[in-house]
Amino acid sequence: MIKLNLKTSIAGKDFEHPIFNASGPKCITREELEEIGVSRSAGIMAKSCTIKPRDGNPSPRHFDFCGGAIGSYGLPNLGYKKYLEIFPQLKSYCKPIIASVSGMSIEENQTIISEFSKVSEIDLIELNISCPNIIGKPQVGYDFDYSKKMIAEIGKVCKKPLGLKLPPYFDFAHFNTMAKIINNSKVSFVTCINSVGNGLYVDFENECTVIKPKKGFGGVGGIIKPFGLANVRKFRELLRDDINIVGVGGIFTGKDVFEYLLCGADAVQIGTAFMQSNTQIFEKLLLEFKQVIQDKEYTRLSQFKNKLKEI
Ligand code: SIN
Repeated sequence: MIKLNLKTSIAGKDFEHPIFNASGPKCITREELEEIGVSRSAGIMAKSCTIKPRDGNPSPRHFDFCGGAIGSYGLPNLGYKKYLEIFPQLKSYCKPIIASVSGMSIEENQTIISEFSKVSEIDLIELNISCPNIIGKPQVGYDFDYSKKMIAEIGKVCKKPLGLKLPPYFDFAHFNTMAKIINNSKVSFVTCINSVGNGLYVDFENECTVIKPKKGFGGVGGIIKPFGLANVRKFRELLRDDINIVGVGGIFTGKDVFEYLLCGADAVQIGTAFMQSNTQIFEKLLLEFKQVIQDKEYTRLSQFKNKLKEI
């Protein structure tokens, strides 16, 4: 039996293997985070938090369709003070703990991140600048001047490795602009991509929308893998080598995990597939991923990571 080494690292933090949960489904409460802790997820990622607890958007706010899902949760979370209590309780699972932050302003993000910086049990902080579902608030990641300011101001107070959860970009000019901002910052990893914002799914029979918030517009996950791969690939080409990339978007199988790493991701997060199942998904993906690697006769990630061939 050939021994596989699946170890990876993000911003210097070691992960036993490259598969963990995305900030999104089933990672709001202490119980949910503990379930991720006992699962085969390589890390414990929490829901993006705000200053005050939020119930989020009105229901129905999620709808599964063939190949994916549309959702508009609107950042339901317990408020950052509760996570200050919860994170230390997760240390016994002996895996990296990642806090996600999505305050409503630069000042709110600074407050939360200053406090999280003092918690020794938090390994990484992911700043979410891409939630498409806050009613009346545009996605920060599409406003380059504001993103630049936000990242610089957060960099002043963040004492942990800082990551950015990015929206999907679709134009090379936008990739270039964002990459330049990130390369000139203290950001040490990026997560590509958040859901594709403001999609619309139609119930053909009833001739109506399927979710309540924003007149039916919501973030689309699942079927978005080509965009996730493209964003990982392009940012790998443009970002400094020391900036890690975490891929997310449409990962349902071990083959999908492999493709993300082939395009340059150092790890992957699981969103829609976790939402549509349970924590067993991490075990399933890990087994499938190991099988893919074995079938291809690799033994460690560096043999194929970022080695996509062009024809
Ligand atoms: C949501 O809570 O609506 C999703 C969060 C996100 O996409 O950042």
